[in-house]
Amino acid sequence: MNNNTGDDHQMPNPAWIDGKTCDLSEATVRLEDRAYFFGDGIYEAIRVYSKNPFYLQAHLDRLHRSADAINLKLPYSDEEISSACSDLIRLSGYDEAYIYMQVSRGVAPREHSFPKNAKPSMSIYVREIPSAMIEQVARPAACITVPDERWMNCYIKSVNLLPNCLARQQAVEAGASEAILYRPGGVVTEGTRSNIFAVIGGEVRTHPESNLILSGITRRIILDIIASLRIPCREEAFTLEELPSASEVWVTSTISELQPVAGINGSAVKGNLPGEYAKAVKAEFKKEVDSVRA
Ligand code: PDD
Repeated sequence: MNNNTGDDHQMPNPAWIDGKTCDLSEATVRLEDRAYFFGDGIYEAIRVYSKNPFYLQAHLDRLHRSADAINLKLPYSDEEISSACSDLIRLSGYDEAYIYMQVSRGVAPREHSFPKNAKPSMSIYVREIPSAMIEQVARPAACITVPDERWMNCYIKSVNLLPNCLARQQAVEAGASEAILYRPGGVVTEGTRSNIFAVIGGEVRTHPESNLILSGITRRIILDIIASLRIPCREEAFTLEELPSASEVWVTSTISELQPVAGINGSAVKGNLPGEYAKAVKAEFKKEVDSVRA
């Protein structure tokens, strides 16, 4: 470990744990860390374009909302976190990358209720976005639908992701890349690591912000673009029953940006790929990305 994050030598995957930097392969977590025991932690994943983090402040704002929701006090200020991110990006030398940051309630003997004296711990690392991933999200997605078996506080970006992992594995085993999750009554909530949009009756629809979805940063950017383009849009949930009538379905996330969906459960989404609205929104999204690349 070294304390000098100003050191300019390059590390393949630099990591930062509570103010100290090291290579990701050497970064370790204490066995009694509550995020390891209980999933008692929160996280953010942020895209880096041409060495610049995209919408970092929006991600930090959401990290604060997640922390507040679980009564966790963030151990570092936004300025300290932003500066650690800049140092890691510089150390990595990567242009196209993502930042992963996680905050745990800390290390304490195993007891479910909150420990009195544990100090929250924060780790951040940078990894290159593999070109295979960039190519995969540039292609239309195939999806399956899976019951949403998560808890009722999905607005918290918690590291408890077992139901998401299980649903996504089901998708992979079915030859798809994402699972569209639905609650009783067939209400589509979101994907395992994405938000879902559909164009139904000429109108863009997506689940409203609520405890049933994560309020995606990409979702918000896309809703703002849709408003600026005066595309008809309603933040209102749609159901599995309505999906076959959709002329476009999109997966949106930090990693996928806006990815059109080609088929769901083996049936093609009708309409062109990408659809008319997807094309228009993607063009504006690219301008946003180009503005941080500049
Ligand atoms: N996931 N919904 C869920 C359940 C997610 O995990 C994510 C992001 C999103 C989209 O949010 P955003 O646009 O802010 O990335 C929606 C990240 C990418 C992940 O877990 O890797």
